[in-house]
Amino acid sequence: MRIDIITLFPEMFEGPLNYSIIKRAQAKGLAEIHLHNLRDFSDNKHRKVDDYAFGGGAGMVMMMQPIVSCLEALKKERVYDEIIFLTPDGELFDQPIANKLSMASNIILMCGHYKGIDERLREHYFTREISIGNYVLTGGELAAAVISDAVIRLLPGVLSDETSALSDSFQDNLLSPPVYTRPAEFNGWTVPDVLISGNEKEIRKWQHEKALERTRTRRPGLID
Ligand code: ADE
Repeated sequence: MRIDIITLFPEMFEGPLNYSIIKRAQAKGLAEIHLHNLRDFSDNKHRKVDDYAFGGGAGMVMMMQPIVSCLEALKKERVYDEIIFLTPDGELFDQPIANKLSMASNIILMCGHYKGIDERLREHYFTREISIGNYVLTGGELAAAVISDAVIRLLPGVLSDETSALSDSFQDNLLSPPVYTRPAEFNGWTVPDVLISGNEKEIRKWQHEKALERTRTRRPGLID
């Protein structure tokens, strides 16, 4: 899978996508992340990418020209399954959206800044608009990193045990049950007996009950 990220701050991605599982996924060739600095596409001699809003008001608006030039350059090279604008007023990102995106071959993530982008682009270019939560970030970069991480870990071969993505919280609209590791007793705190009973059937039953209980108390909205 190939992810093209359009951003004013490519350096922001050096950390989040270059460690651990996501780094290995790229090293193995399972995922490619390409960063594009929007300023490189500006026709303006000062590499300007924003301008005043028609109608006034505080804050600048991202101009159409650099974004269109960048999108057109990318679209000339390959077909994109989704061209996504990251914005706080987009649809809320969740596991089903991550699952769907993980089936794409090529996606573009466009990081917004300032007051946003010219509305005409939103009408004519983007196939999807996504928010990672009901709060406002300084830009779409962290959102793009979150989405890339959530999607790449789902790609076949990325996680060592393929079933581990299937047993994630949210995959079946249930939160994950609690987990424990050795030692079986620490500071007098013990592990539930059933988990060390060796009874596979009882263990699965306990885990399912705990998942239900946790979902009911913490995220009742997931069970409908
Ligand atoms: N840009 C600013 N805030 C955002 C959010 N919550 N989700 C996606 N993009 C954003």
